[in-house]
Amino acid sequence: MKVLAANWKMHKTRAEAWGFFETVGSSIKDSAVRKIVAASPTLLETCQRIAPSCGIEVFSQNCAFETSGAFTGEVSPSQLKELGIKGTLIGHSERRSLFGETAESAVRRSLCALQSGLDVIFCCGETLEERKQGNTRTVLASQLQGLKKVDASLIDPTKATRFIIAYEPVWAIGTGVNATNKEIEETLKWIGEILAELSLPKLPMLYGGSVKPSNFNEIAAVAGVSGALVGGASLEPASFGQLHSALL
Ligand code: PGA
Repeated sequence: MKVLAANWKMHKTRAEAWGFFETVGSSIKDSAVRKIVAASPTLLETCQRIAPSCGIEVFSQNCAFETSGAFTGEVSPSQLKELGIKGTLIGHSERRSLFGETAESAVRRSLCALQSGLDVIFCCGETLEERKQGNTRTVLASQLQGLKKVDASLIDPTKATRFIIAYEPVWAIGTGVNATNKEIEETLKWIGEILAELSLPKLPMLYGGSVKPSNFNEIAAVAGVSGALVGGASLEPASFGQLHSALL
């Protein structure tokens, strides 16, 4: 299954979110593409009221590693489930670089989300310096390592795709510079090898980092790419629609 996942980051008011879905409408509702919008906590309830009419699933951009308790500022997977939210991003590079998210806490959040019934898009990626030094594979292995604790029966991709990997080179996020097709293909191959070493099944893999309608036809055709996690270009209904068309 192809996946188009929008990461709205800290953008949009509730009225703007509602307007987005109104404009997208029902025309893509039944397409074979899995469509996801990951929105800020204040938008989730509004999105959840209208997104299903467009065939779009609503995701959170993060979730806590416990289901309740003294964790000020966090949102738990069960609170998200109560709103009807289908899943969550975990370990986005902005969480890692700006808010101190560690590889370990990203794994803990993923485990708690999966056990609570939320699907997960697990983000990973290297910095430019790490790539230049030839350390990309090692860095990805360290980000993914803890996933060996994931109970493979929870994410059995033959039943439903509950766990998706998003490869997002840090240097490509929001910069307008995207990885080359060769870099994407090679890196997704490495991720597949790392997951196999961890005894995890073959998972869908998305590319993220400056994906736009103008480059997505090419990126979507790269071996191993099941779709994209898109920031900036996912905010407008027209470009969201164009990105969706590239996956048909
Ligand atoms: P971008 O962001 O598409 O704006 O580069 C991608 C992301 O952060 O997921």
